[in-house]
Amino acid sequence: MTTKAMPAALSTGMQRLGTETAFEVLARARALEAQGRRVIHLEIGEPDFGTPANIVEAGVRAFRDGHTHYCPAPGLPELREACAEHLTRHRRLPIDPGRVVVAPGAKPFLFFGVVATCDPGDEVIYPNPGFPIYESVIRWAGATPVPLPLSEEHGFAFTAEQLAERLTPRTKLVILNSPANPTGGIVDAGLNAEIARLLGEHGCWLLSDEVYAEMLYDADHDTVAAHQGLLDRTMLVDGFSKTFAMTGWRLGYAALPEPLVEPVTRLLINSVSCTPPAIQLAGVEALNGPRTEIDAMLAEFRRRRDAIVEGLNSLPGVSCLMPRGAFYAFPNITGTGLGAKELADRLLYDGGVAALAGTAFGDYGEGHLRLSYANSMENLEEAISVMRDVVAEIQVVAS
Ligand SMILES: Cc1ncc(COP(=O)(O)O)c(C=O)c1O
Repeated sequence: MTTKAMPAALSTGMQRLGTETAFEVLARARALEAQGRRVIHLEIGEPDFGTPANIVEAGVRAFRDGHTHYCPAPGLPELREACAEHLTRHRRLPIDPGRVVVAPGAKPFLFFGVVATCDPGDEVIYPNPGFPIYESVIRWAGATPVPLPLSEEHGFAFTAEQLAERLTPRTKLVILNSPANPTGGIVDAGLNAEIARLLGEHGCWLLSDEVYAEMLYDADHDTVAAHQGLLDRTMLVDGFSKTFAMTGWRLGYAALPEPLVEPVTRLLINSVSCTPPAIQLAGVEALNGPRTEIDAMLAEFRRRRDAIVEGLNSLPGVSCLMPRGAFYAFPNITGTGLGAKELADRLLYDGGVAALAGTAFGDYGEGHLRLSYANSMENLEEAISVMRDVVAEIQVVAS
């Protein structure tokens, strides 16, 4: 007699874990390319520049010099020190290297930050539209996501009143992201001061995702951690992916409140053991080496930002606020008469322009697209011209 095996089921947690639509749109765009179609990629959130040569050289040298074994879980002392010095200088904050933990990317800190602090029943306030991983991991942890809407009306920020309305005795964590993906909006010093005043009365943690802190165009970066009493409660997350065009190296770091250093290190030990040491040594070079290539990249992003925003504002039914940081434009497309997902699909299939629907970043992203301007000026100009044709066609059909 043969016994039939019971079908194996996934954990219930997996049903709550979301994903990042950018990877799904990229796969659809690649499938079109495999059929011979040309696609302009504006969906991907990574610099189109190569990693600066001095950083690559430092990494290669480190591999050759034999840095190919396990290393301390929270990171190499020299990188932890370089990160602490960098944060102390750039954020004007006294950061001790003992608080700095290194991981393969900034992303693990979003996961570990929530896992280390939140239980089922806890509430987590997070920006919406925002990086989709926030809501995904909050739900996976069984906590309750409480969206904080970022509206065009407030320059893609929020007001202190909106935050106050969402704070309850169950609020365990507040996530902030400035400069923000997908909107390019920022939380300025005035708003951070109000946040500090409000949170003074709440014993919750903060996670400040600052991976775009050095990609600012018209403003100085202000970190919430610098405000009254918040340094000891804030997980300040940064990374190398964006600033140094190092997305594939997988390297990030966080300055953590002292009580979270050991738990987050334990999560690292349970998951990845450590971050490859040769990659970390490339990170030391990134922080301490010349910044000429980085400055040139940023100047080019500014040029492209100005061009794409002007192009978007010239399209019928489309309007776009000037992003203040990162490398994304988040145009309002409600005047086209189509929803965000529908328009993104039309652009991809009719025009060969891959963009993300604002709803890929949460319900409050409806009515918007996210376009990454980490692409050549020629491609951006072509994309605007394709969009003009697609939008015109939609309007002809509608009339
Ligand atoms: C807001 C935000 N946080 C974190 C990350 C993850 O960065 P990393 O490549 O360092 O894991 C991204 C990447 O797109 C991002 O946009």
